[in-house]
Amino acid sequence: MKNEPGGIELKSKLLLIGGGGHCKSVLDCVLSLDKYSDIGIIDSEIGTKIMDIPVIGSDDDLPNLFKSGWSDAIVTVGSVGNTRVRHKLYEMLKAIGFNMPVIVDSTAIVADKVEIGEGTFIGKGAIVNSETSIGCCTIINSGSIVEHECNIGAFCHISTGATLCGQVKVGDDAHVGAGTVVRQCITIGSNTLIGCGSVVVENVPDKVKAYGNPCKVVE
Ligand SMILES: CC(C)(COP(=O)(O)OP(=O)(O)OC[C@H]1O[C@@H](n2cnc3c(N)ncnc32)[C@H](O)[C@@H]1OP(=O)(O)O)[C@@H](O)C(=O)NCCC(=O)NCCS
Repeated sequence: MKNEPGGIELKSKLLLIGGGGHCKSVLDCVLSLDKYSDIGIIDSEIGTKIMDIPVIGSDDDLPNLFKSGWSDAIVTVGSVGNTRVRHKLYEMLKAIGFNMPVIVDSTAIVADKVEIGEGTFIGKGAIVNSETSIGCCTIINSGSIVEHECNIGAFCHISTGATLCGQVKVGDDAHVGAGTVVRQCITIGSNTLIGCGSVVVENVPDKVKAYGNPCKVVE
């Protein structure tokens, strides 16, 4: 939102980039925030609607939409282990000049001393505790718990219901699977995928797939 002279707050226009399942989670959140004057979706099925919100263009239309006043955008393509598309879209939005807001669902609880990078989404019922930092374009999904002093990189996905105990480090582009528990002070490497329901009690290196209880590297 921008402030006009005279103190009137002008609401911005927000684009959601990618119309799949993750888009629906983000959409429900932004609709309830009442922060945006207009919301539009970018996807290939132009002219259709997703949850009553119109798909108003494809990636090719982004420069013109920006020029016509759509100032804000967030990447709503999800990821499980492969963040290539999210990277590409983020870089495209950045190059055009879009503002990429942090979007936090009204039911999430985020402590005061938390740093969050642009374009990051924090979903329903998630908890992020004190002195945690989160990089840009990351997803902290519904019901996940990121405890105190965690350090989460950019383009990560902390999936639904995952729990990171205190002082956990997660490298860029990592995926922590749904319902996984990560013991305190553990480091999960960059580009690593932790399968759902895992219990991580040892550090996990970069660029591997790991799962199970206890979590073991499989690839
Ligand atoms: C880890 C994962 C990527 C593996 O997928 P995959 O490579 O397609 O593996 P498969 O489903 O073919 O399973 C291969 C074997 O690993 C086992 N396995 C797969 N995922 C597992 C997991 N999370 N925990 C324990 N075992 C697992 C399977 O039972 C199977 O065992 P088998 O060979 O003895 O039959 C996937 O299961 C997973 O956990 N994805 C993340 C889901 C998630 O977090 N979604 C986010 C929603 S918000």
